[in-house]
Amino acid sequence: MPGKQRGSTFSQLRLCLCFLMYCWVLADPVCGYFLKNCTIRGNLSDPSNMKVLCYNRNLEVIPIAIPRKVSNLDLAMNKVSKIEKLDFKGLSNLKILNMPRTQISQVENGALGYLEALQVLGLAHNRLTTLSDYLFQGLANLSLLHLDNNLIATISSSSFQTLSSLKTVNLTKNNLYNMKEVQPIVQLPHLQELYIGSNRFTSFQSQEISNTSIELRLLDLSRNPLGVFRITADVLPYLEVLDIAYCGQLGRMEWDVLNRSFLSNVNRLNLSGIEMSFKRMGMVLQTVNSSLVHLRMQDLLNGSRLKVKALTDIAVQISPILQDSHNSFFSTIKSPTCVFQDLKELWILKLGSNKILTLNDAFMNGLHKLETLNLAGNKLSSIRKGEFKSLTSLKTLLLYDNQIASMEDGAFEGLVNLTELNLGSNKITQTDIRNTVIFSQRHKGLSHLPINFLEGLKSLLSFQAGSLNIKDLHRNTFIHTPRLWFLDISKNEFTALTPKLFRPIPRLNSLYLSKARIQSLDFLIAANLSRVTFLQVSKNDITVVNETVLQSLPALTYLDMQDNPFTCGCSDAWFVQWMESDNQTQVVGAGEFTCNYPADLKDTKLLDVELQFCTVDLGLYCYISTTCLVLLTLVASFAYHFLKWHVIFGYYLFLAFLYDTKQRNKLTPHGCQYDAFISYNAHDKPWVLRELLPELEGKQVWKLCLHHRDFQPGKRIIDNIMDGIYGSRKTICVISHRYLESDFWLFDEQKDVLILVFLEEIPTHQLRTYLSWPRAGEQTGVFWQQLRLALETKDGSAEENPILSGVQAL
Ligand SMILES: *[C@@H]1O[C@H](CO)[C@@H](O)[C@H](O)[C@H]1NC(C)=O
Ligand SMILES: *[C@@H]1O[C@H](CO)[C@@H](O)[C@H](O)[C@H]1NC(C)=O
Ligand SMILES: *[C@@H]1O[C@H](CO)[C@@H](O)[C@H](O)[C@H]1NC(C)=O
Ligand SMILES: *[C@@H]1O[C@H](CO)[C@@H](O)[C@H](O)[C@H]1NC(C)=O
Ligand SMILES: *[C@@H]1O[C@H](CO)[C@@H](O)[C@H](O)[C@H]1NC(C)=O
Ligand SMILES: *[C@@H]1O[C@H](CO)[C@@H](O)[C@H](O)[C@H]1NC(C)=O
Ligand SMILES: *[C@@H]1O[C@H](CO)[C@@H](O)[C@H](O)[C@H]1NC(C)=O
Ligand SMILES: *[C@@H]1O[C@H](CO)[C@@H](O)[C@H](O)[C@H]1NC(C)=O
Ligand SMILES: *[C@@H]1O[C@H](CO)[C@@H](O)[C@H](O)[C@H]1NC(C)=O
Ligand SMILES: *[C@@H]1O[C@H](CO)[C@@H](O)[C@H](O)[C@H]1NC(C)=O
Ligand SMILES: *[C@@H]1O[C@H](CO)[C@@H](O)[C@H](O)[C@H]1NC(C)=O
Ligand SMILES: *[C@@H]1O[C@H](CO)[C@@H](O)[C@H](O)[C@H]1NC(C)=O
Repeated sequence: MPGKQRGSTFSQLRLCLCFLMYCWVLADPVCGYFLKNCTIRGNLSDPSNMKVLCYNRNLEVIPIAIPRKVSNLDLAMNKVSKIEKLDFKGLSNLKILNMPRTQISQVENGALGYLEALQVLGLAHNRLTTLSDYLFQGLANLSLLHLDNNLIATISSSSFQTLSSLKTVNLTKNNLYNMKEVQPIVQLPHLQELYIGSNRFTSFQSQEISNTSIELRLLDLSRNPLGVFRITADVLPYLEVLDIAYCGQLGRMEWDVLNRSFLSNVNRLNLSGIEMSFKRMGMVLQTVNSSLVHLRMQDLLNGSRLKVKALTDIAVQISPILQDSHNSFFSTIKSPTCVFQDLKELWILKLGSNKILTLNDAFMNGLHKLETLNLAGNKLSSIRKGEFKSLTSLKTLLLYDNQIASMEDGAFEGLVNLTELNLGSNKITQTDIRNTVIFSQRHKGLSHLPINFLEGLKSLLSFQAGSLNIKDLHRNTFIHTPRLWFLDISKNEFTALTPKLFRPIPRLNSLYLSKARIQSLDFLIAANLSRVTFLQVSKNDITVVNETVLQSLPALTYLDMQDNPFTCGCSDAWFVQWMESDNQTQVVGAGEFTCNYPADLKDTKLLDVELQFCTVDLGLYCYISTTCLVLLTLVASFAYHFLKWHVIFGYYLFLAFLYDTKQRNKLTPHGCQYDAFISYNAHDKPWVLRELLPELEGKQVWKLCLHHRDFQPGKRIIDNIMDGIYGSRKTICVISHRYLESDFWLFDEQKDVLILVFLEEIPTHQLRTYLSWPRAGEQTGVFWQQLRLALETKDGSAEENPILSGVQAL
């Protein structure tokens, strides 16, 4: 079958292609981008950037066919226990070989020799025990060697011989115990940094090493059980950094530096956790150059094998030595308390975790260049006035984790350049303004800091005073620190704070106020914190957030209000809307804000509460009402301008209506003063006097109201008209051309009070209802009869009125 045939041809073709592919990969691996178990990164035509990444692949052997041009090969985290002689053959371009955590325990002689361009070799966290003679042969350009975290105990004397470019060797955490093993390394001509901490060296003696590199500037010997540190020859003349922290053996470390000039270049010294007496410590400090810049002496009394408990004891113990010491190092000490006085260049001093009880004027003199002083984690209980006053360059003062229970006004006097003060986690419970030190650690009463304890700290940027057990801060606390940028007063028990506290620090950027029992943020409204970008008020008792509060923080970008007992209701509607819509401020954990009240919403998430109905869009209402008002005003002014008289008329009509309603309630149907009000134009007065009056008042005995006769003088004309109309049961309008031309054109559709009398021919389209005065020569009897009937009808609707119907029929 053709189909089957085609199928078998296809599989043959595929097989063929696969073979070709395989051959190609094997034949020319350098050009291939495909490498089993690895990723190739970079550009074939730019080999200096090509990386082959084979890390964390469970490889048991080094992949063959690694592109020869590779410059960076990463084989970290595999299971290659042995590097074979030919594994790296041809990789003459490789500069970085990274193989940590690859379980390597064996490297065949010469296996690394092909890597002639190698600069960095990473073999940390492997299982190497010995560095053999030819291990690093040929690595003439190697400058950085990581061998930390292996099991190396012996180093062959010639293993480092060819590493003439080596600058840094890390042998931390190995099993080295004899300093002689390190000799081949320290004599490398360009060695700069040697890390041999956490090994098993029991002594460091200068006779064990010689011909040391003149470039060696860092020696890390920390965490070795050194019983002896003895330098009897000038083997480390250029050493700048010496770390012997946590060294010592059974509570002792013998420090024996014969001549001060041996360590004359050391400017960084770490003496932390050294188990040696302060007597020795004093001697150690004498043997280093006074140009020391960085001195770390933390954990000095850890384990407390020594009886000494306070820093003052250093001084006490040092002073007897000093007296008969021929060494001039401390010769200028005037008072035994001035331990550090002559460390003129010192700018970092770390004395943390030392169980120091009192400072005992240790910083009253000297240390003018000190910028950082760490006294955290001691047992200081008070800070007295001027305790630090000679530290004029101090920038950072760390006093957290002590037991400071009292602090005097002016405690930080003189620290004009201090930018960071950390007082956190102390138990400040009492303060004394009259220079009496009160120890009252267990006293839990009204607690506050003295008003002026920050006096003089005009450069202060950061103040940390969390967990101090204080209950209030005087509103003038920060008037001395106008540049304050960072303030942490969380974990105190303020309940309320005054806005005035923050007014002297308008540059504040970050405010930490969590766990401070704060019930409302309203104090922020008047606090003038327009530059605050970070506000943390989590774990307080805040129930509602006033919109004005956040309006008063225009720069806010981060708000932490987690774990507050929110009252969920319409008062939060804006807050919810704000959190969801504001694109400037990130509200952390907003989705987790939980209602605490009302009871039926307890434990509901604030964002899940239906508050849409609360959000009345005030803006829309304002818009609508304003629009209406504007339109009304427009219409009114147009109407007034173009229809002035109609408006006035309408107004009086309205008044009339009111009056009418009033009168109707007041008067009985026959309580009217007149039977008819006669409305006429002055030109028609003769007709009214001659014809109408004699007939209606004389013959028919109606009582008429005529304006020229019955209007009360002194009363407003319009009131007279109103009184006349409403004091009459009917109104008779004597209509002539002149009457119609006049403005007084009154009709009332609702009420049949109007009887129109025509003196001349009027076109009917100008009229509504009327009785016509007969033409000259005609009989007037019918006219008067109809008028009588009209006047006799009572008030009522038009339908009941025969006259008007009749008139219409005319
Ligand atoms: C590879 O590197 C060459 C030379 O640096 C450059 O001209 C070429 O554009 C690069 N190709 C890619 C794909 O980056
Ligand atoms: C990668 O190498 C391991 C061990 O060498 C092997 O078991 C695995 O199959 C290889 N993976 C691939 C994708 O070739
Ligand atoms: C070793 O480094 C030097 C100086 O950087 C360089 O000139 C030389 O080519 C390097 N050797 C190899 C094999 O890359
Ligand atoms: C030396 O090794 C230790 C232990 O692995 C490591 O902590 C340290 O950072 C290393 N130092 C350098 C300079 O590589
Ligand atoms: C130190 O160097 C000198 C001269 O360069 C040499 O004679 C001596 O053997 C070297 N010492 C060691 C221990 O390598
Ligand atoms: C210390 O060494 C210097 C120079 O090496 C020397 O001048 C001085 O005399 C030595 N001092 C002592 C006390 O040995
Ligand atoms: C201390 O160091 C300074 C600066 O490095 C140097 O000038 C001075 O000579 C050194 N003092 C001693 C006693 O070696
Ligand atoms: C000793 O102090 C230096 C800083 O001077 C620090 O880098 C180093 O880690 C410290 N050593 C130990 C063991 O803590
Ligand atoms: C200090 O002592 C404590 C226990 O007393 C111990 O847990 C800690 O590891 C010690 N720290 C150092 C740096 O030795
Ligand atoms: C404070 O710092 C400034 C600049 O950092 C410096 O010029 C000034 O001398 C310092 N003041 C004191 C008393 O050290
Ligand atoms: C919010 O604060 C302002 C200013 O103190 C106040 O006038 C207003 O009544 C407060 N609003 C609420 C809902 O408490
Ligand atoms: C934030 O929102 C306002 C108005 O809601 C808008 O004008 C502004 O461009 C937005 N900013 C960003 C960064 O999205």
